Amino acid sequence: MKKFNAKNFIEETIGEIRKEVGDGKALCALSGGVDSATATVLAHKVLGNRLLSLFIDDGLMRENEANDVAAMFKSRGIRIKVLAVQKEFFKALKDIEDPEEKRKAFRNIFYQTLGSAVKKERVGYLIQGTIAADILETKKGIKTQHNVLEQIGFSPKKYGLKIIEPLKTLYKNQVREVARSLGLPKALSERMPFPGPGLATRVIGKVTPERTEIVRKATKIVEEEIKNLKPFQAFAVLLQDKATGVVKGKRQFGNIIVIRSVESKDAITAEVTRVPWRILEKIEKRIIKEIPSAVKVLYDLTPKPPSTIEYI
Ligand code: XMP
Repeated sequence: MKKFNAKNFIEETIGEIRKEVGDGKALCALSGGVDSATATVLAHKVLGNRLLSLFIDDGLMRENEANDVAAMFKSRGIRIKVLAVQKEFFKALKDIEDPEEKRKAFRNIFYQTLGSAVKKERVGYLIQGTIAADILETKKGIKTQHNVLEQIGFSPKKYGLKIIEPLKTLYKNQVREVARSLGLPKALSERMPFPGPGLATRVIGKVTPERTEIVRKATKIVEEEIKNLKPFQAFAVLLQDKATGVVKGKRQFGNIIVIRSVESKDAITAEVTRVPWRILEKIEKRIIKEIPSAVKVLYDLTPKPPSTIEYI
């Protein structure tokens, strides 16, 4: 197999986007992750101000993600609009516990939001950061990644849209090579993968603003404490079950938080990170101190397979 060359890939892809879009207008949805950021920067090279990037602030992002992403893209001269639609997303997810139902509800509201933006902005093209692993996992029926449109019954035609997926042949490590080659800041090119449905995949059971906030805080602690190990992906999960702990001398039936950290190349298989004990202890101490409802912290030891990386 020919070795992947990011510079050649960028050149070829820019040519393809130019040919496809001509003098049309395009929209892309940014998630804060490396895939959508890379697709956006590539498309911006061709389209300039004919590209509008949309950050759908769904309330399910990591801490400060909307502000950080908007600032980074603005500093590169990329047009960006932040849509504050947290209420709509929590309403759409209300009372849903089943994993695939959650994904479905997320997708519906996501594409509804995107669809309205497409109509309002009168664009003909949608740039998506879909990568090879998204397509593979969806085809195998493992889970429906939200961005594999043809598999989920979203009809771009309904919106008069053409979809462009410039990264669909790439694996994560290749996307990172492209991102580095495009000069994206390290905070983005090396950023851990983050699922489209965001923290909704890490709140097991009902997704409420309060429960999401718990996972957001725990995720920040995990990311901060583990970052020197540079894991492929590390995060926190809030379980549906509860457990007994003692808080300020009183029995409390409280929350259980799982720490997950894995090593992988392409997210298709994954090994568990051998996190030094002192780091795990530090995370545990911070979670218990900074999140009053948490009474237990667990570390997940399961590789993929047989497990998956996420919990839903
Ligand atoms: P799993 O849990 O299937 O995750 O081992 C593999 C990779 O995909 C990410 N992931 C998702 N990404 N929508 C996404 O955009 C999803 O519904 C979704 N589920 C999992 C996960 O974070 C990991 O990197």
